[in-house]
Amino acid sequence: MVYQTQSVEPKCLQNKESHGLKTILLQSVFLDEDFIQMGRKEEIEKRRTFGIISHPDAGKTTLTEKLLLFGGAIQVAGAVKSNKIKKGATSDFMDIERQRGISVATSVMAFDYRDRKINILDTPGHKDFAEDTYRTLTAVDSVIVVIDVAKGVEEQTENLVKVCKMRKTPIIVFINKLDREGKDGFDLLDEVEQKLGINVVPQSWPIGMGQRFQGVYNLYEKKLCIFSAHGKQTEEETMTFTDLSDPQLDEIVGERAADTLREEVEMISEVYPDLDVSEYLKGEISPVFFGSAINNFGVKELLDCFVEIAPSPLPRDTEERTVDPYEDGFTGFVFKIHANIDPKHRDRIAFLRVCSGTFERNTNYQHQRLERKLKFSNPTSFMAARKEVVDEAFPGDIVGLYDSGNFKIGDTLTDGESLNYKGIPSFSPEQFRFVNNANPLKTKQLNKGLAQLMDEGVAQLFTMEQSQRKIIGTVGALQFDVIQYRLEHEYGASCTYEPLRIHKACWVSCDDPKVLKEFIDRRKKDIAHDKDGKLVYMAESQWGLKTVQENHPEVEFHFTSEF
Ligand code: G4P
Repeated sequence: MVYQTQSVEPKCLQNKESHGLKTILLQSVFLDEDFIQMGRKEEIEKRRTFGIISHPDAGKTTLTEKLLLFGGAIQVAGAVKSNKIKKGATSDFMDIERQRGISVATSVMAFDYRDRKINILDTPGHKDFAEDTYRTLTAVDSVIVVIDVAKGVEEQTENLVKVCKMRKTPIIVFINKLDREGKDGFDLLDEVEQKLGINVVPQSWPIGMGQRFQGVYNLYEKKLCIFSAHGKQTEEETMTFTDLSDPQLDEIVGERAADTLREEVEMISEVYPDLDVSEYLKGEISPVFFGSAINNFGVKELLDCFVEIAPSPLPRDTEERTVDPYEDGFTGFVFKIHANIDPKHRDRIAFLRVCSGTFERNTNYQHQRLERKLKFSNPTSFMAARKEVVDEAFPGDIVGLYDSGNFKIGDTLTDGESLNYKGIPSFSPEQFRFVNNANPLKTKQLNKGLAQLMDEGVAQLFTMEQSQRKIIGTVGALQFDVIQYRLEHEYGASCTYEPLRIHKACWVSCDDPKVLKEFIDRRKKDIAHDKDGKLVYMAESQWGLKTVQENHPEVEFHFTSEF
């Protein structure tokens, strides 16, 4: 531990005459400091900050709710449900407006369980908000992936897991809805391995499914949990079976089911290795659980294993160096910005992940991009639906900072050191439209509105090099309506869109500046700049992109802004 000896001597000691007293007092200051450091270490070790990801409808909301019920953070089921955007064709921007109002409260859901402080970061399931989810994944230390037993691995899950793998985030898999008919357990494990590209180790195993679902066998605790649909998994329904040949098993689940379980467990032990926690922590292997979230079945096994093996806050990379959470100096980054739903109050909430040191209220911190000191008098923490002003927060915690327009997604705060956190990448949008100003008297408002909405990460803005026309790129069509609506209601500006055929926005780079300049000159009409001024090639079609790549082999084309 390094002490800044020049600053240790507090004012109260400076005029003390007795050296003896001074020494004693100084020692007690050291001890206090030690105590604080130890306290912080313990706090950090307690934290588990994670996200639950799934394809819509697999059961993410239901599982979140059951976890909160276990932690006592909510008392009744249904509390998280209202956070969801209606699915299907009926979704419109009014749904999103409604959702925006309540989702501030569910952005982070914190609860205590077995002496751990657990922070669940909410990730929108709707595919049009995939970009939001990608960003939230930069602020977690691990994830739980929920898969529907009948549907298997779906598209959105594949995309989200790809992002986790880029960052080597440890993954636990929960296969849900065992109370319904679904795919065979072994087939599902194969599918997970193939489609998600992760190695799996089952930790529990189902006995039947659908009508014949009888429970799960906990492979690492060697316990049989008998299924009941009443939503409470009680101790009486859990039995330890160290030896599966025990005839009592036949009495409980029936001879056929008992034999099948014996065979399957033997196969598991032959095919799958034991869980090596260090491999899980490196993101190389994923434990798998089976259950039924709605019936609160198999959820406790999942949670118990999670608190046991999931990582506490991990070191994080900045442009300059890797920052360890146990370092003294405070650092953190903003991964999400929420605008106030009430247009009369333009303030926003920036969500900051604390990465090292201790964040303290009313303390000056350095905003790296603006090169300015900022102080926060009302930083907020979130306990399920409850918001509280916090005096201090530790690595792994998420703090809501009231913001009047100082923050952009990805901004870093430190207590002085010049550091910039990496890793809030932008991905190529899927849909593109030209945006036109529909009211020339409100040009200023339009530009301000667009800039602020882009800072929030609602969509991406590109400016064409030649024409200087602005293009909005989004993941889904819904955002175009959201932008139009919010520009009008929050900024008094109006815009229209013009269709545009673009296949992908590719960030381009080249080691040789001369070659890059030649490329830009030749492709001028397709060159744009993103919000940070980075060079982007707007490819009209997949075929066109391939040809351009072949013609310019020295130029690199990237599909995310982080390369
Ligand atoms: P999501 O957040 O991943 O989109 O999924 P959500 O939890 O909302 O679950 C989607 C649907 O699946 C819900 O039904 C939910 O009740 C149901 N569900 C979740 N877990 C289980 C399970 O273990 N077994 C079964 N049989 N169903 C489950 P819904 O009809 O869309 O909504 P609701 O009317 O039940 O609220």
